[in-house]
Amino acid sequence: MEFFDSHAHYNDEKFEKDRAEIIQKIYSENVTKITCIGYNSRSSQMALELSKQYDFIYATAGISPNDIKNVKIQEIDKIRSIAQQQKVVAIGEIGLDYYWEKENKTQQKEFFIQQIELADELDLPIVIHCRDAVMDTLAILKNEINPKNRGIFHCCMLNKELIKEAVKLGFYISFSGNITFKNAKAKEAIEEVPENRILIETDSPYLTPEPFRGMRNDSRNVKLVAKKIAEIKKLDLAEIASITYQNAKEIYKI
Ligand code: NI
Repeated sequence: MEFFDSHAHYNDEKFEKDRAEIIQKIYSENVTKITCIGYNSRSSQMALELSKQYDFIYATAGISPNDIKNVKIQEIDKIRSIAQQQKVVAIGEIGLDYYWEKENKTQQKEFFIQQIELADELDLPIVIHCRDAVMDTLAILKNEINPKNRGIFHCCMLNKELIKEAVKLGFYISFSGNITFKNAKAKEAIEEVPENRILIETDSPYLTPEPFRGMRNDSRNVKLVAKKIAEIKKLDLAEIASITYQNAKEIYKI
């Protein structure tokens, strides 16, 4: 059984001390593909470097809504030059976050839209970060720019309406450790996603699933996410592993 962690951050400083060690462990425990996600130009460059260093790691490049304070729109040019390299498989994570950032909605939308244009220019899908901004995110995707390679809603916030709309627009839905939390409305959210659109991720080092909540997360825990989905979809773990592996390969064109 092999697993594909569709979203992790080995470019995060929390892995500074033992990055190489942990990456080896992950691979030896059957997580045999990982997408390392950028969130600003520095972390995107680092994701690219990790993808050069490790065969089984792929990279994305993008500026997240949490990383645009005091950043000029021209910073997207740096993302463009990173994203043109081999093994960069998407533009992301990009999107809107009105939970952490309420003061700069116009700037967030500008960065989001211009990076979707960049994805279209480079023929790549997008990885969307959307928090407390469902209506505006969907409005942009429906009315302003319809990304031609679609993409992924990452760390899906378990909002059934969002999922329904996102699936209709052709997007993949990626679930992370938060589906294992007590009181998570995981069941109806997961039931809403057809098998050919479902992905699993860890968002490491964040969002550690139960029973390890509170500890640093790594991609080995993607199995706990898969297990929860298998339970809800009434499938074997091996089936979910293989379905999500194929889906991730498809959207990232690997
Ligand atoms: Ni992330």
